[in-house]
Amino acid sequence: MLHARISLDKEFVRATVDDRLFGSFIEHLGRAVYGGIYEPGHPESDADGFRTDVLELVRELRVPIVRYPGGNFVSAFNWEDSVGPLEKRPRRLDLAWRSVEPNQVGLNEFARWAKKAGTEPMIALNLGTRGIDAARNLVEYCNHPGGSYWSDLRKSHGTPEPHSFKVWCLGNEMDGPWQVGYKTADEYGRLASEVGKALKLFDPRLQLVACGSSNTQMPTYPQWEATVLDHCYETVDFISLHSYFKNHGNDLPTFLGESLDMDRFIRTIIGTVDFIRTKKRSTRKVNLSFDEWNVWFHSRQADEGMAPWTVGPPLLEDVYTFEDALVVGCCLITLLRHADRVRIACLAQLVNTIAPIMTENGGPAWRQTIFYPFLHASLYGRGEVLESMLLSPVYENRTHGEVPYLESIATWNRQAEEITIFAVNRGMTDQLQLSGTIAGWEKVGLMEHIVLVHKDPKAANTKDAPGAVVPKRIETTRLDGDSLQATLPPLSWNVIRLSVRGKLRS
Ligand code: AHR
Repeated sequence: MLHARISLDKEFVRATVDDRLFGSFIEHLGRAVYGGIYEPGHPESDADGFRTDVLELVRELRVPIVRYPGGNFVSAFNWEDSVGPLEKRPRRLDLAWRSVEPNQVGLNEFARWAKKAGTEPMIALNLGTRGIDAARNLVEYCNHPGGSYWSDLRKSHGTPEPHSFKVWCLGNEMDGPWQVGYKTADEYGRLASEVGKALKLFDPRLQLVACGSSNTQMPTYPQWEATVLDHCYETVDFISLHSYFKNHGNDLPTFLGESLDMDRFIRTIIGTVDFIRTKKRSTRKVNLSFDEWNVWFHSRQADEGMAPWTVGPPLLEDVYTFEDALVVGCCLITLLRHADRVRIACLAQLVNTIAPIMTENGGPAWRQTIFYPFLHASLYGRGEVLESMLLSPVYENRTHGEVPYLESIATWNRQAEEITIFAVNRGMTDQLQLSGTIAGWEKVGLMEHIVLVHKDPKAANTKDAPGAVVPKRIETTRLDGDSLQATLPPLSWNVIRLSVRGKLRS
């Protein structure tokens, strides 16, 4: 049995969580759009061709923001192709994913879908093959009420009201040689600065995200961020971070420690951003947008040799295992720990393509294992993050050094009068006895202890067994006054929900 401690105090609040921490991503990639959110003719589809079974699952996740339309796709995307009468829209070759883009879902359709899903689009601009002109036209098309060329064109396309999209990504992974139109940090930084300037001249309230490194293995990381921000610090509001985690060697203790890399990445970028801020004697605060993160490695081989140039080919369809859900849980805890600076994060992606939601064309939709930690964090992780004083035993790992068995964070939702402790026990064989002190609230009660656990780390949910890995309640947790005792099963994701009444200690 492992023993760990957590101590929470009402007076020690670390940060208010931006709801957009629970964002996601839909790219024109594989079956994310065609066969994912959109499948006209499917028995569950509505009059717009959107799958209502998928919409229900997205609404269940309460995703506040969805990045769109790419990803690598956006870097050669002509947005004008995706608006206007459907029958006039061109079929284009998408070079990023070697697929055919029929442009049957475009900006206005996506905005309609987002409304139905209860979410807000976060629009990525093409800074690969295009630049200032296309960007300023697009923002006018989307956000201007009317009385100008592009806004009137939108109206003539049957969208009288402006979309008022708030958050705009200045390109995607522009440091990556695989990107159509990839750039050096100086080239990109200058362009981001000028595009940003044009967008802010249009509307200074827009929130702009500059591209950071595509991952921490890039040879230009982290100098890229410093150079880019040197050019555009005064214009942008966020710098992006992307990370995908793998279990290549089937080495679970290492895989479970991957969130420590995410933590280091965030700390490095905070340092880099603040270095530039100080260098510029700036009073602006640039925050972090972790707008692509997930586990991604299962599908890589399956995608090799995929027939090119089809619409909606089944690309990047990772079937997620129980152990992947634990890593996703650790990442969510890491993002919450940095909620003071990571204000936007997008689980990449949402449907079919490295996604928590899977569908079969013409068939059902179901929840992958990773759906559950994301669901719990999105439902119960809002409000404020508490300073969580933790004491945990560690294991030694060749890649990550000392890895704590316990990964944990707690949030306080004042409105709902609830505290939630999120906790992963990384121990492969041992239970973890968690002792907690919950100090400062007038009255604390135990609501429930939810656990996601499975004896087989490789267990997965599939079309035929969609309920193989699902959360359940455990009843062994005890609260005595302000003292908590919980047993976390080996390899488990835990959500301990407490009701609190908020009077200050006298
Ligand atoms: O999410 C899949 C791809 O991963 C995105 O298109 C790209 O931005 C990243 O490399």
